[in-house]
Amino acid sequence: MITEKKPVLPPMVVAYIEQCQKKEHSESYLISVLQKVQKEMGYLSREAMDEVSTRMQIPSARVTGVATFYHFFCFQPRGRCEIVVCMGTACFVKGAGKVLERFKELLQIKEGQTTPDGAFSIECARCLGACALAPVVVVSGRVYPNVKTGDVRKILEEHGFAAKPKGKASAPAS
Ligand code: FES
Repeated sequence: MITEKKPVLPPMVVAYIEQCQKKEHSESYLISVLQKVQKEMGYLSREAMDEVSTRMQIPSARVTGVATFYHFFCFQPRGRCEIVVCMGTACFVKGAGKVLERFKELLQIKEGQTTPDGAFSIECARCLGACALAPVVVVSGRVYPNVKTGDVRKILEEHGFAAKPKGKASAPAS
């Protein structure tokens, strides 16, 4: 039996796709549509990308290919506490790579991932425009300058992190 997939896209995204479909070369609006999906839903779920594919009549593999090509798209819900580690040149030469590794080690996730409890996620940025403060990390909108690996645990604890016996992250205090 064939079952129809339940629509997941918000009405304003559906309306935008319908507008795009009336234009010439409507497939050229794919990135713009995906940006709207992410803005409205927070990330690109498999179901959302499939619905974009169906509505825009673009093969699913192509939608996925375009989405994964651009670093600004994410495919998991972001954590309640979002960590952005700058990996731009100035930050990188001052040790941002080691700082990133320490965040990953403590939270037991990779960049682009969210802890299983939805508390923390890690993203990398190219340059946050504050190179004089390198290496720079932004946590829930708060800028941390000159971050060293030894600062990482304290930064996380300020946002509610408490390592559990198996090292899993806990939810930040509200
Ligand atoms: S390279 Fe990190 S703020 Fe510019």
